[in-house]
Amino acid sequence: MRALNIAMLWWVVVIFAVPLAHGSIDQSPKAVENWFKRLPQAKEKLTKLHFYFHDTVTDKNPTAIRVAQANITSKSPTRFGETLVVDDPLTLGPEPSSKIIGHAQGIYSSVSKEERSLIMILNLVFNDGKFNGSTLSLLGSNSIFHEYREMPILGGTGVFRFARGIATAKTYASNTTTRNAVVEYHVLVLHY
Ligand SMILES: *[C@@H]1O[C@H](CO)[C@@H](O)[C@H](O)[C@H]1NC(C)=O
Ligand SMILES: *[C@@H]1O[C@H](CO)[C@@H](O)[C@H](O)[C@H]1NC(C)=O
Ligand SMILES: *[C@@H]1O[C@H](CO)[C@@H](O)[C@H](O)[C@H]1NC(C)=O
Repeated sequence: MRALNIAMLWWVVVIFAVPLAHGSIDQSPKAVENWFKRLPQAKEKLTKLHFYFHDTVTDKNPTAIRVAQANITSKSPTRFGETLVVDDPLTLGPEPSSKIIGHAQGIYSSVSKEERSLIMILNLVFNDGKFNGSTLSLLGSNSIFHEYREMPILGGTGVFRFARGIATAKTYASNTTTRNAVVEYHVLVLHY
């Protein structure tokens, strides 16, 4: 009887270890409901993320494409009205060949008539390790010529359910001719 119980225990371990090996968490409605039920006992934790955001506007294979602009945008020193859709790789290091851990998918628009400032509406979609399949939602103001741009993280999914936090962007490299940029991000998030 005792041997049988141990054998059954192994099955449980094996069954649950397979999906967890990919780092993804169970996102079925039932699993989400169980997560909510356990929430009163859950402890909030702080996760720090550090990565580089590669915004490639002009290249054979751009990751940021202009989808709209106003008739005054081309004459505006701040490109007021210009809107891009992005699927920008997030990498561990600053080099384009560095390991990709996710993508920033969303939209940014030039929203200031006084300076080069963007509204960032992004999902950070992670595809590596324990964050694989989890996302963070960022909505913030990005004055691209400031040294540090602090933007709120408003929520998340997967391991980042109920996340709230701060992303700090700092330009690592940029080129005003090509408009391509590499931006360093530090993200601090509280989640369960
Ligand atoms: C991420 O998860 C997907 C889907 O579960 C899986 O196919 C992929 O291999 C995983 N990637 C990594 C790096 O773990
Ligand atoms: C830009 O569009 C507005 C609204 O359609 C129009 O009134 C204006 O004349 C246009 N300006 C230019 C420079 O084309
Ligand atoms: C910007 O890119 C252009 C075109 O590739 C290049 O000629 C120029 O040297 C770059 N400027 C800087 C500062 O890297």
